[in-house]
Amino acid sequence: MSPAKTDTAKKRFQDKVVLITGAAGGIGTALAQQFAAEGARLAVADINSSEITADLHIDGDLRDTAYTDALPKCVFETLGQLDIIVNNAGVITRGAVTDTSDQDWALSLAVNVEAPFRICRSGIPILAAGGGGAIVNIASCWGLRPGPNHALYCMTKAAVAALTQSMGMDHAHQNIRINAVCPNEVNTPMLRSGFEKRGLNPDTAVEALGKTVPLGRIAEPEDIAETVLFLASDAARYMCGSLIEVNGGKPVA
Ligand SMILES: NC(=O)c1ccc[n+]([C@@H]2O[C@H](COP(=O)([O-])OP(=O)(O)OC[C@H]3O[C@@H](n4cnc5c(N)ncnc54)[C@H](O)[C@@H]3O)[C@@H](O)[C@H]2O)c1
Repeated sequence: MSPAKTDTAKKRFQDKVVLITGAAGGIGTALAQQFAAEGARLAVADINSSEITADLHIDGDLRDTAYTDALPKCVFETLGQLDIIVNNAGVITRGAVTDTSDQDWALSLAVNVEAPFRICRSGIPILAAGGGGAIVNIASCWGLRPGPNHALYCMTKAAVAALTQSMGMDHAHQNIRINAVCPNEVNTPMLRSGFEKRGLNPDTAVEALGKTVPLGRIAEPEDIAETVLFLASDAARYMCGSLIEVNGGKPVA
C-alpha cells in the first residue's frame, strides 16, 4: 500500500464534526489532537480553549445553562453539521459527604451531570436529523465501583454511567450510539492538582501511583483519548450504552 493510501485509510473522522467539552484539560487536549489528526473538524468548549487548535471555539461556563443548552446548535449553525459529541469536562471533589459543601455539590452536579444531560438533550435531535452520530461521555471506574473519600465525585460519575446506559438504549433506533469511557487514574491536571493540594510533588506521586497499577504506570491522556476515538468510530458500530473501563488492570481502591 502506498503512503498516500495509508494516510487516507487512517483518517477515520474525515468529513465529521466533533464537539469536545473540557477541551483545554488533560484528556481534552489529547482528544482534540487525535480527532484533528484523523481528519475531524473540531468545535471545542472550555472556560478558555484558546491554546487548542480548532475550527470553532465556544468558550463559556458549563454551569450557565443557556450556554450549555446552546452548544450543539451553535456547532451545527457555524460548521454546518454535528456528528460526534464528547462530554469530557469534569471537576473532582475530594472528601466524605461530611466534608462536602453546598458549593461543592452545586459545582459537581452542574458540570459532571447536568451539563452532559443538557448537551445530550439538545444534541440528540441534531444528530438524529443528520442521520445519526455518536456521543461519548467520560465517566470513571470510581462511578462503577465507588472508592473511599470521593463520595460526591463517585456519585456524579455513577449518574453519568447510568444516563449513558439509558440513552444508549433510547436513541439507538435513531442511529445514535451513546457510550462512556471509565478511566481509573490519569496523569492530568485534575489528578496532579490533588497531589499539590496535599503538599506532594506530582511527578514523584504519579510515579509512585504507577507502581500500584498492574501495567506499571497510570494512564496518560492519550490512552483514554484512543478509547474515545474507538467508541466514536465506525469500528464501534454495534456498541450502544457500553461503559468501557480503561484501567491498566487496576481495581478501584
Ligand atoms: N484524571 C483522572 O484521573 C480521571 C479519571 C477518571 C475520569 N476522569 C474524567 O475525565 C474527564 C477529563 O478530566 P481531566 O483529567 O482531563 O481533567 P482536567 O482538569 O485536566 O480537565 C477538565 C477540563 O474541564 C474544564 N471545566 C471544568 N469545569 C468547567 C466549567 N464549569 N465550564 C467549562 N469547562 C469546565 C476545565 O477547564 C478543564 O479544562 C473528567 O470528566 C474527569 O472526571 C479523569
